[in-house]
Amino acid sequence: MDRIKEEVLSLKDEVISIRRDIHKHPELGFHEVRTSKLIENYLKDCGIEVKGNVAKTGVVGLIRGKEEGETVMLRADIDALPIEEMNNVSYKSVNKGLMHACGHDGHTAMLMVAAKILSRHRDELKGNVKLIFQPSEEKDPGGAIKMIEEGVMENPKVDKAFGMHLGNMIPAGIIGIKDGVLTAEADRFKIVIKGKGGHGAYPHTSVDPVVIASETVIALQTIVSREVNPIDPIVLTIGKIQSGDVFNVIPENAELLGTVRTLNKKLAQTIPEKIKRISENVAKAFRGSAEVEYHFGYPPLINDEKETKYVIKIAEDVVGKEHVLNVPVSMGGEDMAYFLEKVPGAFFWLGSMNKEKGLDKPHHSAYFDFDEDVLPIGAEMHVKIAMGVLK
Ligand code: NI
Repeated sequence: MDRIKEEVLSLKDEVISIRRDIHKHPELGFHEVRTSKLIENYLKDCGIEVKGNVAKTGVVGLIRGKEEGETVMLRADIDALPIEEMNNVSYKSVNKGLMHACGHDGHTAMLMVAAKILSRHRDELKGNVKLIFQPSEEKDPGGAIKMIEEGVMENPKVDKAFGMHLGNMIPAGIIGIKDGVLTAEADRFKIVIKGKGGHGAYPHTSVDPVVIASETVIALQTIVSREVNPIDPIVLTIGKIQSGDVFNVIPENAELLGTVRTLNKKLAQTIPEKIKRISENVAKAFRGSAEVEYHFGYPPLINDEKETKYVIKIAEDVVGKEHVLNVPVSMGGEDMAYFLEKVPGAFFWLGSMNKEKGLDKPHHSAYFDFDEDVLPIGAEMHVKIAMGVLK
Protein backbone atom coordinates (compact mmCIF):
# COMPACT_ATOMS: atom_id res chain seq x y z
CA MET A 1 0.00 0.00 0.00
CA ASP A 2 1.29 3.47 -0.75
CA ARG A 3 1.99 5.86 2.10
CA ILE A 4 -0.82 8.33 1.31
CA LYS A 5 -3.42 5.57 1.32
CA GLU A 6 -1.97 4.33 4.60
CA GLU A 7 -2.11 7.80 6.10
CA VAL A 8 -5.68 8.34 4.97
CA LEU A 9 -6.79 4.99 6.37
CA SER A 10 -5.16 5.78 9.70
CA LEU A 11 -7.49 8.80 9.85
CA LYS A 12 -10.64 6.86 8.97
CA ASP A 13 -12.13 7.12 12.47
CA GLU A 14 -11.33 10.82 12.50
CA VAL A 15 -12.99 11.57 9.17
CA ILE A 16 -16.09 9.62 10.24
CA SER A 17 -16.31 11.34 13.60
CA ILE A 18 -15.97 14.80 12.00
CA ARG A 19 -18.69 13.90 9.50
CA ARG A 20 -21.01 12.72 12.28
CA ASP A 21 -20.38 15.83 14.32
CA ILE A 22 -21.28 18.03 11.35
CA HIS A 23 -24.22 15.81 10.48
CA LYS A 24 -25.59 16.19 13.98
CA HIS A 25 -25.37 19.99 13.76
CA PRO A 26 -26.63 20.96 10.29
CA GLU A 27 -26.86 24.63 9.33
CA LEU A 28 -28.52 26.33 6.36
CA GLY A 29 -26.62 28.21 3.67
CA PHE A 30 -24.90 31.42 4.90
CA HIS A 31 -25.72 30.37 8.47
CA GLU A 32 -22.97 27.74 8.83
CA VAL A 33 -21.53 29.46 11.92
CA ARG A 34 -20.72 26.39 14.03
CA THR A 35 -19.55 24.41 11.00
CA SER A 36 -17.16 27.09 9.81
CA LYS A 37 -15.73 27.58 13.33
CA LEU A 38 -15.11 23.84 13.48
CA ILE A 39 -13.29 23.95 10.13
CA GLU A 40 -11.28 27.04 11.08
CA ASN A 41 -10.08 25.56 14.34
CA TYR A 42 -9.18 22.25 12.74
CA LEU A 43 -7.15 23.90 9.99
CA LYS A 44 -5.39 26.16 12.50
CA ASP A 45 -4.47 23.11 14.57
CA CYS A 46 -2.90 21.67 11.41
CA GLY A 47 -0.80 24.83 11.09
CA ILE A 48 -2.65 25.97 7.99
CA GLU A 49 -3.18 29.67 7.15
CA VAL A 50 -6.91 30.27 7.54
CA LYS A 51 -9.31 33.02 6.60
CA GLY A 52 -12.83 32.87 8.01
CA ASN A 53 -16.05 34.76 7.23
CA VAL A 54 -15.43 34.62 3.49
CA ALA A 55 -18.79 35.06 1.73
CA LYS A 56 -20.30 35.31 5.22
CA THR A 57 -19.69 31.79 6.52
CA GLY A 58 -17.10 30.33 4.17
CA VAL A 59 -13.56 29.35 5.13
CA VAL A 60 -10.44 29.47 2.99
CA GLY A 61 -7.27 27.61 3.94
CA LEU A 62 -3.91 27.99 2.26
CA ILE A 63 -1.09 25.46 2.34
CA ARG A 64 2.07 26.99 0.92
CA GLY A 65 4.49 24.50 -0.55
CA LYS A 66 8.21 24.65 -0.03
CA GLU A 67 8.79 25.81 -3.60
CA GLU A 68 6.93 28.20 -5.88
CA GLY A 69 4.50 26.72 -8.35
CA GLU A 70 0.89 26.47 -9.36
CA THR A 71 -2.05 26.87 -6.98
CA VAL A 72 -4.57 24.08 -6.85
CA MET A 73 -8.03 24.70 -5.44
CA LEU A 74 -9.88 21.91 -3.65
CA ARG A 75 -13.49 22.73 -2.87
CA ALA A 76 -16.13 21.36 -0.53
CA ASP A 77 -19.61 22.73 0.16
CA ILE A 78 -20.71 22.87 3.79
CA ASP A 79 -24.43 23.68 3.96
CA ALA A 80 -27.47 21.59 4.94
CA LEU A 81 -31.13 21.56 3.88
CA PRO A 82 -34.46 22.56 5.44
CA ILE A 83 -35.53 18.93 5.91
CA GLU A 84 -36.56 17.15 9.14
CA GLU A 85 -34.35 14.06 9.48
CA MET A 86 -36.21 10.74 9.71
CA ASN A 87 -33.18 8.50 10.28
CA ASN A 88 -32.67 6.87 13.65
CA VAL A 89 -28.93 7.10 14.03
CA SER A 90 -26.70 8.14 16.91
CA TYR A 91 -25.64 11.18 14.90
CA LYS A 92 -29.16 12.27 13.97
CA SER A 93 -29.64 16.01 13.48
CA VAL A 94 -30.34 17.89 16.71
CA ASN A 95 -31.36 21.03 14.81
CA LYS A 96 -35.06 20.84 14.24
CA GLY A 97 -36.14 20.99 10.62
CA LEU A 98 -32.54 20.93 9.35
CA MET A 99 -30.60 18.04 7.90
CA HIS A 100 -27.50 17.18 5.93
CA ALA A 101 -29.47 15.31 3.29
CA CYS A 102 -27.09 15.77 0.38
CA GLY A 103 -23.76 14.60 1.80
CA HIS A 104 -22.14 18.01 2.27
CA ASP A 105 -21.22 16.89 5.81
CA GLY A 106 -19.12 14.20 4.15
CA HIS A 107 -17.64 16.67 1.65
CA THR A 108 -16.53 18.92 4.50
CA ALA A 109 -15.02 16.09 6.56
CA MET A 110 -13.13 14.65 3.58
CA LEU A 111 -11.54 17.98 2.70
CA MET A 112 -10.62 18.69 6.35
CA VAL A 113 -8.77 15.41 6.68
CA ALA A 114 -7.18 15.84 3.26
CA ALA A 115 -5.96 19.27 4.42
CA LYS A 116 -4.34 17.69 7.47
CA ILE A 117 -2.44 15.19 5.34
CA LEU A 118 -1.43 17.79 2.75
CA SER A 119 -0.13 20.08 5.49
CA ARG A 120 2.15 17.27 6.68
CA HIS A 121 3.55 16.98 3.17
CA ARG A 122 3.99 20.67 2.42
CA ASP A 123 7.73 20.19 1.97
CA GLU A 124 6.98 18.00 -1.03
CA LEU A 125 4.70 20.55 -2.69
CA LYS A 126 5.86 22.75 -5.53
CA GLY A 127 3.13 25.36 -5.27
CA ASN A 128 0.08 25.92 -3.10
CA VAL A 129 -3.15 24.23 -2.15
CA LYS A 130 -6.14 26.46 -1.62
CA LEU A 131 -8.84 24.84 0.47
CA ILE A 132 -12.28 26.23 -0.22
CA PHE A 133 -15.05 25.48 2.25
CA GLN A 134 -17.99 27.04 0.48
CA PRO A 135 -21.24 28.06 2.14
CA SER A 136 -24.69 27.74 0.62
CA GLU A 137 -24.50 25.46 -2.39
CA GLU A 138 -28.13 24.42 -2.12
CA LYS A 139 -29.75 27.78 -2.53
CA ASP A 140 -29.24 29.98 -5.53
CA PRO A 141 -27.63 32.52 -5.45
CA GLY A 142 -25.11 30.27 -3.73
CA GLY A 143 -21.79 30.77 -2.04
CA ALA A 144 -19.48 30.08 -4.99
CA ILE A 145 -20.18 33.28 -6.90
CA LYS A 146 -19.98 35.28 -3.67
CA MET A 147 -16.60 33.74 -2.81
CA ILE A 148 -15.30 34.57 -6.29
CA GLU A 149 -16.52 38.17 -5.90
CA GLU A 150 -14.63 38.34 -2.60
CA GLY A 151 -11.46 37.30 -4.39
CA VAL A 152 -10.84 33.69 -3.40
CA MET A 153 -9.45 32.92 -6.84
CA GLU A 154 -6.67 35.49 -6.29
CA ASN A 155 -3.65 35.85 -3.94
CA PRO A 156 -2.31 33.43 -4.83
CA LYS A 157 -4.08 33.05 -8.15
CA VAL A 158 -5.81 29.71 -8.57
CA ASP A 159 -4.66 27.75 -11.63
CA LYS A 160 -6.82 24.64 -11.36
CA ALA A 161 -9.94 23.71 -9.40
CA PHE A 162 -11.25 20.34 -8.31
CA GLY A 163 -14.19 19.09 -6.31
CA MET A 164 -16.40 16.09 -5.78
CA HIS A 165 -19.89 15.13 -4.72
CA LEU A 166 -20.99 11.99 -2.93
CA GLY A 167 -23.53 10.12 -5.03
CA ASN A 168 -26.16 7.73 -3.71
CA MET A 169 -27.10 6.77 -7.26
CA ILE A 170 -23.66 5.19 -7.70
CA PRO A 171 -22.38 2.12 -5.77
CA ALA A 172 -19.96 2.90 -2.94
CA GLY A 173 -16.37 3.23 -4.00
CA ILE A 174 -17.04 3.90 -7.67
CA ILE A 175 -15.79 7.19 -9.08
CA GLY A 176 -17.94 8.66 -11.84
CA ILE A 177 -16.78 11.41 -14.14
CA LYS A 178 -17.14 12.73 -17.68
CA ASP A 179 -15.54 15.54 -19.60
CA GLY A 180 -17.56 18.44 -20.97
CA VAL A 181 -20.88 19.29 -19.38
CA LEU A 182 -21.56 17.34 -16.17
CA THR A 183 -24.48 19.21 -14.56
CA ALA A 184 -27.17 21.45 -16.00
CA GLU A 185 -27.92 25.14 -15.94
CA ALA A 186 -30.59 25.52 -13.25
CA ASP A 187 -32.97 28.47 -13.72
CA ARG A 188 -36.21 29.30 -11.97
CA PHE A 189 -39.34 31.30 -12.62
CA LYS A 190 -42.51 32.59 -11.03
CA ILE A 191 -45.81 33.16 -12.81
CA VAL A 192 -48.52 35.23 -11.18
CA ILE A 193 -51.91 34.75 -12.83
CA LYS A 194 -54.51 37.40 -12.20
CA GLY A 195 -58.17 36.46 -12.46
CA LYS A 196 -61.24 37.86 -10.79
CA GLY A 197 -62.52 36.27 -7.60
CA GLY A 198 -66.12 35.38 -6.87
CA HIS A 199 -68.61 32.75 -5.80
CA GLY A 200 -67.83 29.17 -6.79
CA ALA A 201 -71.39 28.68 -7.98
CA TYR A 202 -71.30 31.66 -10.40
CA PRO A 203 -68.13 31.17 -12.47
CA HIS A 204 -69.47 33.28 -15.32
CA THR A 205 -69.20 36.37 -13.11
CA SER A 206 -65.54 35.58 -12.31
CA VAL A 207 -62.29 34.89 -14.11
CA ASP A 208 -60.97 31.66 -12.63
CA PRO A 209 -57.18 31.76 -12.09
CA VAL A 210 -57.17 28.06 -11.05
CA VAL A 211 -58.36 26.99 -14.48
CA ILE A 212 -55.87 29.34 -16.14
CA ALA A 213 -53.07 27.93 -13.96
CA SER A 214 -54.05 24.40 -14.94
CA GLU A 215 -54.04 25.22 -18.67
CA THR A 216 -50.71 27.01 -18.22
CA VAL A 217 -49.00 24.01 -16.60
CA ILE A 218 -49.99 21.79 -19.53
CA ALA A 219 -49.24 24.39 -22.19
CA LEU A 220 -45.74 25.06 -20.82
CA GLN A 221 -44.79 21.43 -21.44
CA THR A 222 -45.06 22.14 -25.17
CA ILE A 223 -41.85 24.16 -24.80
CA VAL A 224 -40.09 20.88 -24.14
CA SER A 225 -42.07 18.74 -26.57
CA ARG A 226 -42.68 21.19 -29.47
CA GLU A 227 -40.36 24.18 -29.32
CA VAL A 228 -36.91 22.84 -28.47
CA ASN A 229 -34.88 20.56 -30.71
CA PRO A 230 -35.41 17.05 -29.28
CA ILE A 231 -31.67 16.36 -29.28
CA ASP A 232 -31.14 19.26 -26.81
CA PRO A 233 -32.03 18.04 -23.30
CA ILE A 234 -34.37 20.29 -21.32
CA VAL A 235 -36.56 19.86 -18.25
CA LEU A 236 -39.39 22.17 -17.24
CA THR A 237 -40.96 21.43 -13.87
CA ILE A 238 -43.65 23.33 -11.99
CA GLY A 239 -42.89 22.58 -8.34
CA LYS A 240 -45.49 24.74 -6.67
CA ILE A 241 -49.01 25.92 -7.44
CA GLN A 242 -50.73 28.14 -4.98
CA SER A 243 -54.24 29.54 -5.15
CA GLY A 244 -57.42 29.75 -3.14
CA ASP A 245 -58.42 28.86 0.41
CA VAL A 246 -61.80 27.14 0.37
CA PHE A 247 -63.86 24.86 -1.88
CA ASN A 248 -66.58 27.28 -2.93
CA VAL A 249 -64.71 30.48 -3.71
CA ILE A 250 -63.02 31.36 -6.98
CA PRO A 251 -59.78 33.07 -5.90
CA GLU A 252 -58.30 36.28 -7.27
CA ASN A 253 -54.83 35.01 -8.17
CA ALA A 254 -52.74 31.92 -8.69
CA GLU A 255 -48.99 31.58 -8.38
CA LEU A 256 -46.79 29.01 -10.08
CA LEU A 257 -43.12 28.35 -9.26
CA GLY A 258 -40.96 26.27 -11.54
CA THR A 259 -37.48 25.37 -12.68
CA VAL A 260 -35.88 24.97 -16.09
CA ARG A 261 -32.80 22.80 -16.65
CA THR A 262 -30.73 22.97 -19.83
CA LEU A 263 -27.25 21.89 -20.83
CA ASN A 264 -26.18 24.96 -22.71
CA LYS A 265 -26.42 28.67 -22.07
CA LYS A 266 -27.57 29.50 -25.59
CA LEU A 267 -30.68 27.37 -25.25
CA ALA A 268 -31.27 28.67 -21.71
CA GLN A 269 -31.36 32.24 -23.04
CA THR A 270 -34.31 31.42 -25.33
CA ILE A 271 -36.59 30.01 -22.62
CA PRO A 272 -37.88 33.14 -20.79
CA GLU A 273 -39.52 34.46 -23.98
CA LYS A 274 -41.31 31.12 -24.50
CA ILE A 275 -42.61 30.96 -20.93
CA LYS A 276 -43.75 34.57 -21.09
CA ARG A 277 -45.47 34.22 -24.44
CA ILE A 278 -47.33 31.03 -23.49
CA SER A 279 -48.31 32.15 -19.98
CA GLU A 280 -49.50 35.60 -21.06
CA ASN A 281 -51.48 34.30 -24.01
CA VAL A 282 -53.06 31.36 -22.20
CA ALA A 283 -54.19 33.76 -19.49
CA LYS A 284 -55.48 36.18 -22.11
CA ALA A 285 -57.43 33.41 -23.86
CA PHE A 286 -59.33 32.85 -20.64
CA ARG A 287 -59.86 36.54 -19.83
CA GLY A 288 -57.10 36.79 -17.25
CA SER A 289 -53.52 38.03 -17.29
CA ALA A 290 -50.13 36.65 -16.30
CA GLU A 291 -46.82 38.10 -15.21
CA VAL A 292 -43.59 36.14 -15.44
CA GLU A 293 -40.42 36.65 -13.43
CA TYR A 294 -37.43 34.69 -14.71
CA HIS A 295 -34.15 34.13 -12.90
CA PHE A 296 -31.03 32.61 -14.47
CA GLY A 297 -29.32 30.36 -11.91
CA TYR A 298 -26.19 28.22 -11.81
CA PRO A 299 -24.58 27.76 -15.24
CA PRO A 300 -23.81 24.31 -16.66
CA LEU A 301 -20.76 22.73 -15.02
CA ILE A 302 -18.09 22.07 -17.63
CA ASN A 303 -15.25 19.68 -16.95
CA ASP A 304 -12.00 20.44 -18.75
CA GLU A 305 -10.95 17.59 -21.03
CA LYS A 306 -7.32 17.45 -19.95
CA GLU A 307 -8.07 17.79 -16.23
CA THR A 308 -10.78 15.13 -16.48
CA LYS A 309 -8.21 12.75 -17.92
CA TYR A 310 -5.92 13.69 -15.05
CA VAL A 311 -8.61 12.95 -12.43
CA ILE A 312 -9.34 9.61 -14.12
CA LYS A 313 -5.67 8.71 -13.83
CA ILE A 314 -5.66 9.56 -10.11
CA ALA A 315 -8.97 7.71 -9.61
CA GLU A 316 -7.59 4.59 -11.28
CA ASP A 317 -4.75 4.66 -8.79
CA VAL A 318 -7.07 5.25 -5.79
CA VAL A 319 -9.95 2.84 -6.53
CA GLY A 320 -8.66 0.73 -9.42
CA LYS A 321 -9.42 1.02 -13.12
CA GLU A 322 -12.53 -1.20 -12.91
CA HIS A 323 -14.09 1.23 -10.39
CA VAL A 324 -13.87 4.34 -12.53
CA LEU A 325 -16.99 5.00 -14.59
CA ASN A 326 -17.91 7.35 -17.36
CA VAL A 327 -21.20 8.80 -16.10
CA PRO A 328 -24.03 10.47 -18.00
CA VAL A 329 -24.74 14.16 -17.59
CA SER A 330 -27.05 15.13 -14.69
CA MET A 331 -29.91 17.63 -15.00
CA GLY A 332 -29.16 18.75 -11.44
CA GLY A 333 -27.36 22.04 -10.81
CA GLU A 334 -24.08 22.64 -8.95
CA ASP A 335 -22.45 26.00 -8.28
CA MET A 336 -18.93 24.56 -8.54
CA ALA A 337 -19.72 25.53 -12.15
CA TYR A 338 -18.73 29.15 -11.37
CA PHE A 339 -15.20 28.15 -10.29
CA LEU A 340 -14.84 25.99 -13.40
CA GLU A 341 -15.88 28.94 -15.58
CA LYS A 342 -12.80 30.77 -14.27
CA VAL A 343 -10.12 28.07 -14.39
CA PRO A 344 -9.78 24.57 -15.84
CA GLY A 345 -10.49 21.69 -13.53
CA ALA A 346 -12.89 18.86 -12.93
CA PHE A 347 -15.74 17.79 -10.69
CA PHE A 348 -16.69 14.18 -10.13
CA TRP A 349 -19.01 11.83 -8.26
CA LEU A 350 -17.84 9.55 -5.49
CA GLY A 351 -20.35 6.69 -5.27
CA SER A 352 -21.72 6.27 -1.74
CA MET A 353 -24.70 3.94 -2.14
CA ASN A 354 -24.72 0.64 -0.26
CA LYS A 355 -27.92 -1.37 -0.67
CA GLU A 356 -26.93 -4.08 1.85
CA LYS A 357 -26.52 -1.44 4.53
CA GLY A 358 -29.79 0.22 3.49
CA LEU A 359 -27.89 3.32 2.41
CA ASP A 360 -29.54 3.86 -0.94
CA LYS A 361 -32.03 6.69 -0.36
CA PRO A 362 -31.90 9.57 -2.80
CA HIS A 363 -30.28 12.90 -2.06
CA HIS A 364 -32.60 15.44 -0.41
CA SER A 365 -34.70 12.62 1.09
CA ALA A 366 -35.45 12.78 4.84
CA TYR A 367 -33.98 9.24 4.95
CA PHE A 368 -30.76 10.08 3.11
CA ASP A 369 -27.57 8.61 4.53
CA PHE A 370 -24.45 7.31 2.81
CA ASP A 371 -21.75 4.69 3.23
CA GLU A 372 -19.07 6.28 5.42
CA ASP A 373 -16.52 3.73 4.22
CA VAL A 374 -16.02 5.91 1.14
CA LEU A 375 -14.87 8.96 3.14
CA PRO A 376 -11.20 7.91 3.13
CA ILE A 377 -11.42 7.42 -0.65
CA GLY A 378 -12.59 11.00 -1.11
CA ALA A 379 -9.85 12.33 1.16
CA GLU A 380 -7.27 10.30 -0.75
CA MET A 381 -8.56 11.69 -4.05
CA HIS A 382 -8.18 15.27 -2.77
CA VAL A 383 -4.65 14.64 -1.49
CA LYS A 384 -3.43 12.86 -4.61
CA ILE A 385 -5.03 15.32 -7.02
CA ALA A 386 -3.22 18.19 -5.31
CA MET A 387 0.10 16.39 -4.86
CA GLY A 388 0.04 15.17 -8.46
CA VAL A 389 -0.27 18.70 -9.81
CA LEU A 390 2.31 20.13 -7.41
CA LYS A 391 5.00 17.48 -7.63
NI1 NI B 1 -25.29 18.57 -2.94
